[in-house]
Amino acid sequence: MKDVVDLGTSLGSYRLGSPLIAACGTVGSVVDFAGVADLSVYGAAVAKSVSGTPWPGRPAPRLAPAGAGMLNGIGIQNPGAEEWARTIGPQLGLIDTDVWGSAVGRDAAEFGHVAGTLTGTGVAAIEVNLSCPNLESGRMFALDPADAAAVVAAVRKATKLPIGAKLTPNSEDIVAAADAVATAGADWVVLGNTVWGAGFDVETRRPLLSGVVGGYSGSPIKPIALRCVWEVSQALPDLPIVGTGGVSSGDDVVEFLLAGAAAVGVGTVHFATPRAGARIAKQLRKYMRRHGVTAVQELIGAVEPW
Ligand SMILES: Cc1cc2nc3c(=O)[nH]c(=O)nc-3n(C[C@H](O)[C@H](O)[C@H](O)COP(=O)(O)O)c2cc1C
Repeated sequence: MKDVVDLGTSLGSYRLGSPLIAACGTVGSVVDFAGVADLSVYGAAVAKSVSGTPWPGRPAPRLAPAGAGMLNGIGIQNPGAEEWARTIGPQLGLIDTDVWGSAVGRDAAEFGHVAGTLTGTGVAAIEVNLSCPNLESGRMFALDPADAAAVVAAVRKATKLPIGAKLTPNSEDIVAAADAVATAGADWVVLGNTVWGAGFDVETRRPLLSGVVGGYSGSPIKPIALRCVWEVSQALPDLPIVGTGGVSSGDDVVEFLLAGAAAVGVGTVHFATPRAGARIAKQLRKYMRRHGVTAVQELIGAVEPW
């Protein structure tokens, strides 16, 4: 029997064949991950963030299981935008889905430089990773709506590609941050990144991460990410959202769609199950058939009131 379930969705005028997005930092450069899993199940896959110059990252240990989730303190290790464009860029045409570049930097000008360099490689969109510290204030750009907007404005100037601004669930006011980056030219927001966390080994009495505080991800953060998506979709209904945090099943994807996301990131689950995307897509189709839903778009914001 022909499958009549339509997984297509859109982020503004940018069309995606699937609402699943392979989340930044969990599928390497995307090119290396293509040999491990079928990337065609994703509407897009986001390559690891790159900066203007190479960043060495933090010393080991940089990853640790913590409860049902995971702590990471990678420090955004990357070869720098020019080297990335030279080595990874030429391979992007071989990937079975759209690849988004992810830009980081220490100031707005560095973000703009990276976005311009990535644009030349054939990426389909630029994700702006605002969860890194501003050189001037030492605070994460995403925590200050004006700082975040200045970065997005610089990226907007540097590229004609669609821009997704990736915000942080650590934000005091996620709606203010989303509003500021949308006004500055972001086509959608990604909600969100990891939640600050820490852990300690009681036998060695050492921190689990060399940097002590890192990013917590995986299933325990799902309600936090859902709350961010809900708040922004209620306040800014015209702003497309990529909901991201703790997704590991088709039902998790449906939850994010109901909360108002138009697409849904799949991240930490890749570490234990690199081929999770295919299973999640299958579960989503099954849910839709079971509930008589023919198009994913019918589920976006389709929450029933009490
Ligand atoms: C090991 C690791 C590395 C990550 N690196 C990046 C990164 O470079 N840039 C970025 O924007 N997000 C990065 N993230 C955040 C993920 O893209 C995602 O937003 C977050 O982990 C929440 O989703 P999840 O719970 O499904 O993993 C990273 C996450 C993990 C676990």
